Amino acid sequence: MKPLHALFYAATLLFESALGLRGGTAAQPDTTVQWSACDPSLGLDPMLQCGFFKVPLDYHNRFIGSAQLALVKANATQKRRGTVFMNPGGPGVSGVTDLNGTSALLLDQTGGYYDIVSWDPRGVGSLTVPGDVFCFDSLEDIQAFFNGTIELQGIEMTGNFTDAADIQALLAQAGTMQQKYEGLAQRCWQYSDGKYLQYIGTAATARDLAALADALDGPGSPVNYIGLSYGTILGSWFINMFPERVGHVVLDGVVDPIKFGTEDIALSGWGMQLSDADRVYEALFTGCALAGPEGCSIASAGQTPLDVNQDIQALLQAAHDAARANASVPTTSGQIRSLLREVMYSPNSWGLFANTVWPQLVQEVQAETGGNMTRRSTLRKPAENLGVPYSAEAIICGDSKDPTGANMTDVFNGIIATSNNISAMFGAAWPFATYYCPFWPIRAVERYEGPFNKSIAHSILVIGNTFDPATPFSGAKAVADELGNHAILVRLNGFGHTSQAEPSACISDIIRAYMVNGTLPQGDETVCEVDEDFEVFSGVNTSDIFRNMPAIDI
Ligand SMILES: *[C@@H]1O[C@H](CO)[C@@H](O)[C@H](O)[C@H]1NC(C)=O
Ligand SMILES: *[C@@H]1O[C@H](CO)[C@@H](O)[C@H](O)[C@H]1NC(C)=O
Ligand SMILES: *[C@@H]1O[C@H](CO)[C@@H](O)[C@H](O)[C@H]1NC(C)=O
Ligand SMILES: *[C@@H]1O[C@H](CO)[C@@H](O)[C@H](O)[C@H]1NC(C)=O
Ligand SMILES: *[C@@H]1O[C@H](CO)[C@@H](O)[C@H](O)[C@H]1NC(C)=O
Ligand SMILES: *[C@@H]1O[C@H](CO)[C@@H](O)[C@H](O)[C@H]1NC(C)=O
Ligand SMILES: *[C@@H]1O[C@H](CO)[C@@H](O)[C@H](O)[C@H]1NC(C)=O
Ligand SMILES: *[C@@H]1O[C@H](CO)[C@@H](O)[C@H](O)[C@H]1NC(C)=O
Ligand SMILES: *[C@@H]1O[C@H](CO)[C@@H](O)[C@H](O)[C@H]1NC(C)=O
Ligand SMILES: *[C@@H]1O[C@H](CO)[C@@H](O)[C@H](O)[C@H]1NC(C)=O
Ligand SMILES: *[C@@H]1O[C@H](CO)[C@@H](O)[C@H](O)[C@H]1NC(C)=O
Repeated sequence: MKPLHALFYAATLLFESALGLRGGTAAQPDTTVQWSACDPSLGLDPMLQCGFFKVPLDYHNRFIGSAQLALVKANATQKRRGTVFMNPGGPGVSGVTDLNGTSALLLDQTGGYYDIVSWDPRGVGSLTVPGDVFCFDSLEDIQAFFNGTIELQGIEMTGNFTDAADIQALLAQAGTMQQKYEGLAQRCWQYSDGKYLQYIGTAATARDLAALADALDGPGSPVNYIGLSYGTILGSWFINMFPERVGHVVLDGVVDPIKFGTEDIALSGWGMQLSDADRVYEALFTGCALAGPEGCSIASAGQTPLDVNQDIQALLQAAHDAARANASVPTTSGQIRSLLREVMYSPNSWGLFANTVWPQLVQEVQAETGGNMTRRSTLRKPAENLGVPYSAEAIICGDSKDPTGANMTDVFNGIIATSNNISAMFGAAWPFATYYCPFWPIRAVERYEGPFNKSIAHSILVIGNTFDPATPFSGAKAVADELGNHAILVRLNGFGHTSQAEPSACISDIIRAYMVNGTLPQGDETVCEVDEDFEVFSGVNTSDIFRNMPAIDI
């Protein structure tokens, strides 16, 4: 269980001060950080240190009160030159927890000359206040609220979502789901820390980053930053809000900030985020076929990549048919699809997924289809995103443009169009944070809407993967194009989400040369390969997969 009581208590205290009951002075960012051992309950590497940092809730109205950010630091291993800040994405991913797993890589990629600092941004984690956004007391309450809806079951479809019965079944639920999402929005707004929703968002977090750099590296110091995934939105907003503060900045797994700020991200245009997702899926079944049953239990001996794909599609079809026949089956094709979508992010988890999770899914679906009813289901993973917090939704929707009047029917039609035209495999994965935005109760008090081509103090490094399931290479290219000669574009010729998804000494060398010496590669687009000794499946590396991927429409 999450420490709901602690959170509620902290939020209550903060809100009292926000109302002026505890002083009523103007909130200012802290100017120093007291580092000490991290709370043992976090279970972090003892090489990391932790601290807190006070910032104004609203930089434009400092009498509203203060927020408190939880920080984490990995010390420089060489003579310290300053700080490199890191945001791991999500949004909603805890920087404190993430740095525990990535500090070694980041120290290596920065030559050891910088402290690496991350933090739980406002709206994230259990130590930052306001922290994770809650709308229900428990997972059980969420399940009761959404009982019998696609929120828990996922969307049932096959192929590229052209079957008329599937389309009709989805559209028939638009009224129910709209009512649920409107109800959810009211719950989030009225929940204990709902009043903070307007102070959670990327513009305020960009100001927090500037204040943190002031405190750690000196007032007005250049800001060094590595942003991954959503962290690239934070990076794009930061470098354009504070162009004179730009130090060494790496954006990796890039979202196009212009599209993010100008489109209705609940509708089909946003489906472009999935434009390479099916290619990543092809990489998975190709690698699986190359590995064979010893390395990938989805494959049978002698199968081609297309055979493996057919077996996966057959399981989805069987789960789909079972769910159509009985709406209460425990494992639906929609749930499997959402799970597969998550699996696409990390090729280094494909072997584990194929050899441990997949056989369970097969048994579950067989049980549903009457193949063997004796086995009780063991895998109880609901559709993704059912943890208690709604932090990702709060940040994404708080940042997004004002509601355009789109209703749930429009959202569903967008999903069908995305499945038709962009990603047959993942267009229908539900739920997803952007779908809440038309109904979300409030936008952030500040949003940065551009321009995104400011003349920045230092050139930045922009990295995209050839096939990334969530942030296609086109996003990196768009940001680099917008910044002109203030950005250098690098492509990692690999799969998965951000360059951290597959190891590449080439990528690490480029980041290190930039961070240590300020040197950037020349030319319009530099290409890096994934390390050849990295095995995606046993005995199968990334270049093997590229050479064998079939050119097909799934
Ligand atoms: C942090 O990293 C250490 C060492 O790598 C590991 O043992 C520990 O489980 C990690 N903690 C968390 C919370 O992930
Ligand atoms: C990190 O560096 C600071 C300042 O030099 C020092 O006080 C602290 O003990 C170091 N932390 C660790 C874990 O080595
Ligand atoms: C969901 O609804 C069914 C009946 O439609 C009921 O049996 C079940 O207990 C409900 N589940 C939850 C978690 O409320
Ligand atoms: C959304 O709007 C369209 C057009 O006005 C309407 O046909 C549809 O019924 C609406 N859907 C919902 C869920 O209200
Ligand atoms: C539908 O599936 C549920 C859950 O597995 C099961 O309890 C129920 O008996 C099934 N209903 C029918 C009509 O088969
Ligand atoms: C059902 O599963 C049980 C235990 O796994 C097995 O012994 C039995 O042979 C299976 N029955 C059928 C019809 O597959
Ligand atoms: C998707 O394709 C259909 C025709 O198959 C077309 O009507 C629709 O406009 C397309 N949608 C997008 C978003 O490109
Ligand atoms: C959907 O897939 C079918 C069969 O593969 C194909 O014929 C059709 O053109 C596809 N539809 C769209 C809108 O792409
Ligand atoms: C940014 O783009 C706008 C519109 O395309 C253009 O007018 C402006 O000159 C550009 N600014 C810079 C600094 O390049
Ligand atoms: C930085 O430049 C120095 C001098 O040219 C060179 O020796 C060193 O290897 C470079 N470091 C990196 C990380 O590129
Ligand atoms: C990886 O791929 C390359 C190119 O096909 C091949 O030469 C090499 O042997 C492979 N390495 C390993 C460790 O499998």
